[in-house]
Amino acid sequence: MALEAAGGGGARLTIGVPRETAVGERRVALVPDAVKRLVGSGVAVAVETGAGVEASFADAEYADAGATIAPDAAALYRDADLVVKVQRPQTDPASGRDEVDLLREGSTLIALLSPMTNTDLVQALAAKRVDSFSMDAIPRITRAQSMDVLSSQATVSGYKAVLLAASHLPKFFPMLTTAAGSITPAKVLVVGAGVAGLQAIATARRLGAVVEAYDTRPVVKEQVESLGARFVEIDVDTSDSQTAGGYAKEVSAEVLRKQQEVLADRASRSDVVITTALVPGRPAPKLISAETVGRMRAGSVIVDLAAETGGNCELTVPGEVAVREGVTIVGLLNLPSSMPVHASQMYAKNIQNLLELLVKGGRYAPDDSDEVVRGTRVTLGGEVVHAATRERLGLGAATPAAPASPSPAAGAPVPAAAARG
Ligand code: NAI
Repeated sequence: MALEAAGGGGARLTIGVPRETAVGERRVALVPDAVKRLVGSGVAVAVETGAGVEASFADAEYADAGATIAPDAAALYRDADLVVKVQRPQTDPASGRDEVDLLREGSTLIALLSPMTNTDLVQALAAKRVDSFSMDAIPRITRAQSMDVLSSQATVSGYKAVLLAASHLPKFFPMLTTAAGSITPAKVLVVGAGVAGLQAIATARRLGAVVEAYDTRPVVKEQVESLGARFVEIDVDTSDSQTAGGYAKEVSAEVLRKQQEVLADRASRSDVVITTALVPGRPAPKLISAETVGRMRAGSVIVDLAAETGGNCELTVPGEVAVREGVTIVGLLNLPSSMPVHASQMYAKNIQNLLELLVKGGRYAPDDSDEVVRGTRVTLGGEVVHAATRERLGLGAATPAAPASPSPAAGAPVPAAAARG
């Protein structure tokens, strides 16, 4: 059905859910429960056959929820007015087939686009007059928490990081008193106490470990302590450590050196180190040096959740589990994909909440005055409208017809302060 629905008087909108084609991606953008709710709200949903299989959702479940099943990607994209995906459109290295080519001109796309680093893709979407929205650019304001994919997926990563650490550690996590003697609990250090870090702390505590954590943002001390962990104090000036929106800023070389020194001491006494320290738009700060790894006990484990942006540990090999100086360093990527059922369920809920701002009465009618719509939109009407991406491309300000807003994920200032409780 055509996007004349955008005007409000046209046909019912069809939302399309393709099968993810990125290597190793097991999530799906909508789960059957979300499809059921969307169909109930008056839109049609088409799902490519097998789209949910890797996440344990069969075609029959989607059909029961009211979706039609498209036999292949070509049929799916042909019918869809609005495509929802997890990963950005891919190019198949074997066939050279590009998913942007499959998108209908003038249709709408919602996915994790990382527009700042995928500028060629963004320009291709603009050239095709696709109205695109990036789920990693949701403004970090209180009202948008229910759409915040970075948070929902970081929750999965933080949990999984602890399970990976526990399975690689040649020790128990909890304290045990048995007939065969007493076992002391594992010591876990969590570096970076944002969404993933706090979930890692909670999970490690549930497994019985003794946990301590560090973050440059002093505001998290109370959150760390409320989870039963100790907050590591480092005597540095942190007064300028976060943006108005609650994000970390890059620290000075002097502060970084001091952090490395204290963390080296804490890490050498820990069995497990989980690092999650990220600075939006910047490479991950190197907080665990090669020398620190050398000081850790043999058998210890580091799980580096910052591997995607280079890693918090100097010896992390992105995408791999490496053993260095007797220490296992887990640098695996895309951990949310390794728990695809709940990761997809949470992603789908985020999408469903965003769609409430884009679809009214079964028709495509984005509320352009809404700061979440404006902040998340990447391309519209043949133009790149995402302010930070325009800046990266050396383009001037967007035309008034295509309003732009900054994206926190891209490292630009966020619209409003909103600390998470
Ligand atoms: P993130 O994934 O960008 O960073 C992870 C953590 O690394 C942050 O806590 C950061 O302070 C820390 N970090 C950065 N550099 C460091 C260094 N050199 N040493 C130690 N730690 C360092 O952040 P995340 O987890 O996505 O969110 C951070 C905060 O933003 C949340 O805790 C929350 O307060 C707020 N937030 C607000 C939302 C909303 O209102 N819609 C949604 C999500 C988060």
